[in-house]
Amino acid sequence: MQIDLGGKVAIVTGASAGLGRATAARLAASGADVAMLARRAAPLEAAAVGIAAAGAGRAAALPCDVTDTAALEAAFEAACARFGKVDIVVNNAGSSFRKPAAEITRDEVIGDFDLKVSAALRLVQLALPGMRARGDGRIVNVSAIAAKAPDGGSIPTALSRASGLTLTRVLARELAGDGIRVNALCVGKIKSGQWERRHAAEGSGQSYEQFLRPVAESVPMGRLGEAEEFAAAACFLVSDAASYITGAALNVDGGLCPVA
Ligand SMILES: NC(=O)c1ccc[n+]([C@@H]2O[C@H](COP(=O)([O-])OP(=O)(O)OC[C@H]3O[C@@H](n4cnc5c(N)ncnc54)[C@H](OP(=O)(O)O)[C@@H]3O)[C@@H](O)[C@H]2O)c1
Repeated sequence: MQIDLGGKVAIVTGASAGLGRATAARLAASGADVAMLARRAAPLEAAAVGIAAAGAGRAAALPCDVTDTAALEAAFEAACARFGKVDIVVNNAGSSFRKPAAEITRDEVIGDFDLKVSAALRLVQLALPGMRARGDGRIVNVSAIAAKAPDGGSIPTALSRASGLTLTRVLARELAGDGIRVNALCVGKIKSGQWERRHAAEGSGQSYEQFLRPVAESVPMGRLGEAEEFAAAACFLVSDAASYITGAALNVDGGLCPVA
């Protein structure tokens, strides 16, 4: 599908690696200017340089921790100063964090919620006045299939992700009359830095592909997803091709989640 995002400006959080980087690249390839956020400046800058070189749209690296409200607000202002407006928000920054319920601390629950829900809401709030004034906004909140079908041991991630889906549905209903669409993508198992770090931490000496084999076998399609497959879904949801879709929570999971 040919998607044209020419003239649009996007902010993508967690854009230095994995799904966020692939999404920023896909949006820029479709013509959007993209403000890319992540904490570590060096990999973010490298990603932005590569995306700007290959894309039709421009790319800017704006390092910030999205849980630092002042830093997030400054990054949003910098994006507006650079590109003039924000039409598209992709709340993707996140990390894998799960613990047995008996061991989880209050600070860990609140910290995970802050990253996956509060920061996403704050970025939407920052983008809202401009989106409302133009009568056009497209928001994608990245979630996980744990939001719909949690495993044991998935606190605090499953709690935060379920809240993120509720946030998506509330915003979709609240903002539909303003021409702002809000959708979620529920990720299953997609190759990214998260899986590379798990492989490195496991330390059994097996190759990355060997490490991933049992994970792949647990997925009905028999493989993990590629970051570009996720990016294609994100790009579709923020495009005019999805103009009548809001409040949806689309699984990108090779059929893994038993809940549609
Ligand atoms: N890949 C999967 O199988 C999978 C499954 C379920 C859900 N997800 C979700 O999908 C999203 C993307 O994950 P991924 O697999 O692409 O992970 P990844 O490769 O580890 O990338 C995570 C990105 O988020 C950034 N980030 C993390 N914390 C941040 C913070 N506080 N402020 C700003 N940026 C931050 C990281 O950069 P810095 O470290 O430099 O900040 C990086 O750019 C996450 O929300 C993740 O939880 C992924």
